[in-house]
Amino acid sequence: METVLSGIRSTGNLHLGNYFGAIQNFLKMQHQHICYFFIADYHSLTTHPTPSDLYHNVQQVLVEYLASGIDPEVSTLYIQSDVPEVAELYLLLNMNAYLGELERCTSFKEKLRKQPDNINAGLLTYPVLMAADILLHRATKVPVGKDQEQHLEMARTFANRFNRLYQTNYFPEPVAYHFDGNLIKIPGLDGSTKMGKSESPGNAVFLADEPAVIRKKVMAAMTDSGPQQPDQPMSQGVANLFSLLEVLSSEDTHSHFLAKYKEGSIRYGDMKKQLAEDIIAFTSPLRQRILEIGQNKEYLSRVARLGAEKARESASNTIKEVRKIIGFKPF
Ligand code: TYM
Repeated sequence: METVLSGIRSTGNLHLGNYFGAIQNFLKMQHQHICYFFIADYHSLTTHPTPSDLYHNVQQVLVEYLASGIDPEVSTLYIQSDVPEVAELYLLLNMNAYLGELERCTSFKEKLRKQPDNINAGLLTYPVLMAADILLHRATKVPVGKDQEQHLEMARTFANRFNRLYQTNYFPEPVAYHFDGNLIKIPGLDGSTKMGKSESPGNAVFLADEPAVIRKKVMAAMTDSGPQQPDQPMSQGVANLFSLLEVLSSEDTHSHFLAKYKEGSIRYGDMKKQLAEDIIAFTSPLRQRILEIGQNKEYLSRVARLGAEKARESASNTIKEVRKIIGFKPF
């Protein structure tokens, strides 16, 4: 049995990328391993949410995890800030994380480009906090999407560096994991290669979107003026739609439209209509559960308490061991 851990930042509603990259990937392991799934609310502070936004986002993400099928009786489902041990491990790991490697991290460079006015130290050390999340439970498998691959590589670096420095093998090496082999990246509807929370408004389909909203977003998705010449590559927008069909529609539907594309008779409108209906068929039951679970505040608070208790048990054990390894001793 291995220890599995994954998490999602609480910066907004969950979208299809989060679902297929992290949640579904996690669900496949929930009954076989020791599993932790958490809401990364400390991480979300890099964007400076107001206190009430912070609270509501965490609640919404908790509801959406539960609606997606994470079972709080089987997995340990918790909120990061309920386990302050992670902040101590983060501090300790920060002592052996170097400016150069943090500055070279792709996600940091992207933030530099996208939000030059808010380059806080939390952004720089984001991968250290993420490593602390993982190492806190000594997890070995981390179900994530492809965009997190580099962060996992850094978590391995920090784990190995700690082990070398203190001549121990306390931390195992965590790996980015996808149940069928390859890490995935769900594309956006706006022609960009990644579906994400902070992209343009038409980029992402959220699990809680109403059917009419989904139809509107999909019908507005970027395509091109028609199938390209046989020797031309497929345009990005159209390739994205085919990737989404591959994940959300039947194999027959996917190959039907691909054949039409190849013979040059495809009508993108027909393909989008089908894709929208297939997305709706997938998200409707989730949306129903989101609405139901969202009403049950008592259940949510029970889940959060249970998760915090279970997570703290493992976390405090790790911190105790780590303190001992480093040389902190009671006087
Ligand atoms: P976040 O909140 O950006 O994304 C959460 C999870 O969703 C996956 N994901 C995607 N997968 C496929 N295609 C997409 N378009 C897509 N968009 C998002 C991400 O790969 C991720 O698995 N740093 C993390 C949160 C985190 C974490 C951790 C994860 C903090 N500590 C420890 C695992 C372990 C983040 O910002 O993810």
